[in-house]
Amino acid sequence: MCGIIGFTGTGDARGIILDGLKRLEYRGYDSAGIAIQRNNEINMVKAQGKVDNLVNLAVANDKLIGTCGIGHTRWATHGIPNDINAHPHMSEDGKFAIVHNGIIENQAEIKEKLLKKGMTFKSETDTEVMVQLLSFNYNGDIKKAIMKTVSEVTGSYGIGVLCTDNPGVIYAAKVASPLIIGIGVGENYFGSDITAFINHTKNVIDLDDNELAEIHKDKVIIYDYKGEEIKKEIRKVTWDIAAAEKSGYEHFMIKEIMEQPAAIKATIEPRIKNGKIDFDELNLDILKYNRVLITACGSAYYAGCVGKLVIEKLARLHVSMDVASELRYSDPMIDEETLVIVVSQSGETADTIAAIKEAKSKGATVLAIVNVVGSTIAKLSDYVIYTWAGPEIAVATTKGYTTQVAVFYMFAVWAAKKLNKIDDKQLEEYTNIIKHLPERAQRALDLNAKVKTLADKYYHNKSIFFIGRYFDYAVCLEGSLKLKEISYIHSEAYAAGELKHGTIALIDEGRLVVAACCYEPLLDKIISNIQQVKARGAEVLALAMEDNKKIFKEADDVLLVPKTNELFMSLVEIIPLQLFAYYVAKNNKCDIDKPKNLAKSVTVE
Ligand code: M6R
Repeated sequence: MCGIIGFTGTGDARGIILDGLKRLEYRGYDSAGIAIQRNNEINMVKAQGKVDNLVNLAVANDKLIGTCGIGHTRWATHGIPNDINAHPHMSEDGKFAIVHNGIIENQAEIKEKLLKKGMTFKSETDTEVMVQLLSFNYNGDIKKAIMKTVSEVTGSYGIGVLCTDNPGVIYAAKVASPLIIGIGVGENYFGSDITAFINHTKNVIDLDDNELAEIHKDKVIIYDYKGEEIKKEIRKVTWDIAAAEKSGYEHFMIKEIMEQPAAIKATIEPRIKNGKIDFDELNLDILKYNRVLITACGSAYYAGCVGKLVIEKLARLHVSMDVASELRYSDPMIDEETLVIVVSQSGETADTIAAIKEAKSKGATVLAIVNVVGSTIAKLSDYVIYTWAGPEIAVATTKGYTTQVAVFYMFAVWAAKKLNKIDDKQLEEYTNIIKHLPERAQRALDLNAKVKTLADKYYHNKSIFFIGRYFDYAVCLEGSLKLKEISYIHSEAYAAGELKHGTIALIDEGRLVVAACCYEPLLDKIISNIQQVKARGAEVLALAMEDNKKIFKEADDVLLVPKTNELFMSLVEIIPLQLFAYYVAKNNKCDIDKPKNLAKSVTVE
């Protein structure tokens, strides 16, 4: 979703901000803009489309030479994507410029009030309403004006503000939309995430809700909304800059696919002590809960689908599932005895945040599985397990998903032991299997040199079905999403046994069916499903364990999965499907890292 960067220092603000906007492109956007403050005036340039369009305009504009400014990539919510609706927005009097992430819900009433006062508006955005309100509220004290303005709006915002009366200072404030301050030497930054300025500094302050930052080149002062100064800790980010760059790969997605063995290892290793999974650091009393509810969106939800199966199988706890966008409105049956597990790579997904609030309002305990340290979801939850996947830049998640699955495996085994459903010997046995998953993931990558050839054969398909049973079905859900989001090919995942209840009507000559056949206890069942679709003319690409001889006789082609214990194989099994989606999308010349209409972090409902 929208990205923000702000800079103040002695260097070239235009260059730094444009570079930051390029780094924020991965979030998804449709227009971009920059405003620079110089000699008590603010100048800005905005452009629809790619940041490169903005760069071309901005570098040719000498008025944008300066040492202090703000920039934005916009993902349209109010008003179509065009130059006028792009951010920054300036107040009519030219005194203020603002960039904004989030949605102002009462913008219509505020706009009406300001129109009556004689103010006029150029754009259709809620952000312009906010900057006009700021100007209306200003009588010489910018901090007071910002605080008054934010007290009058409802909704969510992360804002960056320039004011001509305060040269060299950038202001930032937030509610329910992330903003991070970067602390440099003789220069400071803010950004919607660390990637905006990670090439300049790794020292950050997490701005919390209802806080206002006054950022000078050599100092940062944080206030609460009563105007009291507050002390905040500086945190050092452990990601290095290479993690946020392509490092020679053609796309972030393939880089992140390849990083999975290391990411899974980083997730698992610190939680194994003396040969046993150990989550005691959490201090969570699992015996207190009689049921678990998993909620999340998109791939994070599909990681939860694997989590449900493994928790129920091993810990024998009842687990229900709901997508976060539904849970928030469905008056869910949860109470003090429910452990709600939320899953999120970004930690900023609006629907998931709303689901947490709903769960807490009903007295449930919330455990979050999150990748981004200090994110809103991490802060709102009672307990947090970080996935330690490092920054994920491609919109389509890969290492985010597999590290979430790894956490579910460890959690299930740990809970099973706490609940006396497994003994010490089984704990050690399962721990040992989990410990070796990074090697299995590496082998999945090594085994699949052939995926590219298969993608060459199948990339022209217009519609692809994924079928599987039990754990295989859970993997199909994610495999199908991966394919459709980056290649724009229609695809659906079905529990294989469901085909005959309707969908088989769509199976005809040449239709590609990807059949996941890794869960060996149900191998004969899925083979019957393969025969059913083949009898109707389908081509079958099977996903099977490397020692599965039977499958070569049944399927047209086979994607190989390294032999892994059947309870813990989903994490490995998804890897060939990620690669397949990647190469199909590449053959179709799709914008793999930034698929159309999608955003990395969905911070609006
Ligand atoms: O950041 P989150 O994990 O909360 O994001 C949830 C979904 O928006 C995300 O998984 C989405 O489905 C991805 N595009 C999948 O690749």
